[in-house]
Amino acid sequence: MAIAIVTGASGLVGAETVRVLADKGLEVVGIDNNMRRELFGDAAGTGFMRTRLEQEVPGYIHHAIDIRDREAITGLIRRYGTMVEAVVHAAAQPSLHWSARDPFADFTINATGTLVLLDAVRRFCPEAAFAYLSSTKVYGDHPNRLPLAEEDSRFELPLDHPWGEYGIDETMPVDHASHNLFGTSKLSADLLVQEYGRHFGMPTGCFRAGAVTGGGHAGAEMHGFLAWMVRCAVEGRQFTLFGHSGKQVRDVLHANDLANALGAFIEAPEPGAVYNIGGGREVNISLLEAVRAVEDMTGEIVHTRISETPRPADQMWWISDTRSFLEAYPHWVPAFDMESIIADVYDGVLARQHGG
Ligand SMILES: NC(=O)c1ccc[n+]([C@@H]2O[C@H](COP(=O)([O-])OP(=O)(O)OC[C@H]3O[C@@H](n4cnc5c(N)ncnc54)[C@H](O)[C@@H]3O)[C@@H](O)[C@H]2O)c1
Repeated sequence: MAIAIVTGASGLVGAETVRVLADKGLEVVGIDNNMRRELFGDAAGTGFMRTRLEQEVPGYIHHAIDIRDREAITGLIRRYGTMVEAVVHAAAQPSLHWSARDPFADFTINATGTLVLLDAVRRFCPEAAFAYLSSTKVYGDHPNRLPLAEEDSRFELPLDHPWGEYGIDETMPVDHASHNLFGTSKLSADLLVQEYGRHFGMPTGCFRAGAVTGGGHAGAEMHGFLAWMVRCAVEGRQFTLFGHSGKQVRDVLHANDLANALGAFIEAPEPGAVYNIGGGREVNISLLEAVRAVEDMTGEIVHTRISETPRPADQMWWISDTRSFLEAYPHWVPAFDMESIIADVYDGVLARQHGG
């Protein structure tokens, strides 16, 4: 029996990954203690997704373990041993903006939790492919030093800049920048994952994702701007544009497309790999543009408020150059464009409103 372990299994990326890996014929074991509810409140909890996976994915087994609990995690991985062929680590405190509230919780979940997992895998199933969901926030505020031009609705990097045509690649520096606490805990974990690949020869890979969303995204103000914007529109709440006049640019990737990228990696892992992964030049949007797009597509009104103060270490422009990943996995083709992403997020918000 070939087993895949997915941490953060009820979260946005984890749940899509559970389905993708189950479709590949793996027995999927999920780990998620619904910490998201504790972090962001009841409406952002992911308990509904655990129930859905248990009902819909044949053979799916869920463990509500905290990834920081070394004894429990080690015991679980020891139990499955070399039957574990893949680990996708998506459990996290995922919010840049939340992290300063409780740096200890942020660091122990993101960095220590990753170490707990890596070391258990090293001891009991070192051949298993290990994919880690890192973040573009490991680059801190470096992108803000790019020669960005301010246009009417967005910042833009001129096309003749080396990163203008395809976006930012993995050679962007990670130090001498402000990261916020979140970027720091994610970078610590990212380095650990790389080091377990290099030092112990384990097939590990880091996926530095930007803005990821989809119908399964339980939006919260502190995390996931598009899902939160749609939720604000539907619930008549105010959406605050923090700093930079709302002209910050993000590339956006649907969680299902990301899960397919993770699935490709675990079938043929490149040890110690690091990839920037996102919607790239094809799918990107500024916050201001997103307000218009959400209104046009859903017919709902987004009530906005502008705050002059940017969030600490907020990147003014991020578009991922995905060519390193595509070179290694040329068959990966993201299926969702901006329109279908917004439509799916809207459907997901409406479904949850009606108890779905
Ligand atoms: N969504 C994005 O825009 C985005 C962008 C870049 C990187 N990422 C990364 O992708 C990964 C997944 O993000 P997501 O959007 O699916 O987040 P999410 O919050 O939807 O899912 C994370 C899940 O992890 C669980 N979890 C948190 N702490 C835990 C703990 N201590 N023990 C067990 N489970 C725990 C939560 O309950 C939640 O269900 C994270 O590492 C995140 O940093 C996400």
